[in-house]
Amino acid sequence: MQNFPIAKTHRLIEPGPVLLVTTFHKDRANIMTIGFHMMIQHGPPPLIGCIIGPWDHSYEALRKTGECVLAVPGVDLAEKAVDIGNCSGSDMDSDTDKFEKFHLTQLPAKRVKAPLVKECLANIECRVADTHLVNAYSLFILEAVHAHINPERKEQRTFHHRGDGTFTVDGRILNLQERMVKWKMFQD
Ligand SMILES: Cc1cc2nc3c(=O)[nH]c(=O)nc-3n(C[C@H](O)[C@H](O)[C@H](O)COP(=O)(O)O)c2cc1C
Repeated sequence: MQNFPIAKTHRLIEPGPVLLVTTFHKDRANIMTIGFHMMIQHGPPPLIGCIIGPWDHSYEALRKTGECVLAVPGVDLAEKAVDIGNCSGSDMDSDTDKFEKFHLTQLPAKRVKAPLVKECLANIECRVADTHLVNAYSLFILEAVHAHINPERKEQRTFHHRGDGTFTVDGRILNLQERMVKWKMFQD
């Protein structure tokens, strides 16, 4: 084992997949990219923790509306997702938004005002469940209130940020369900 810089710890365990977060505030939809997120609880209700910082235009929308959609892009959207995370809704003209800029299609969600992203593999409608850790860590605890998948999309592989602008892409599936004797309830 060699020493590894502590400031780069995230590069060793940064989770994936990269997600797009949509919000709707002041009559406008916005979309941003995140890599820092985690499942907190299977549920009910399912809870997801996401780091969305005050440097993001989406932060205010999330604080004010308490709603967002977590959209899961396939690897075919990797370049777009990176570009979306390198520009801000606050830089857009009043008549355009990042959906138009990046040619993404908004679909109405069922339970929240933030839009789904048609081109994504999955969309999870969320409401903010707990803001206790937002001031300290920009950590929003979100409750998933409705989920959508698109199994017909040809490209189903997600991609995962390695923390430095490089990404890994989903590979082969290893099925070890037979050994998951204690956790059979998670297999259907
Ligand atoms: C691969 C990637 C991962 C990112 N992960 C996060 C993240 O976990 N949390 C965060 O607040 N910003 C993250 N960002 C930065 C935001 O996407 C970026 O600040 C974006 O401009 C915010 O958009 P907005 O200002 O329109 O809300 C990431 C960007 C990229 C490209």
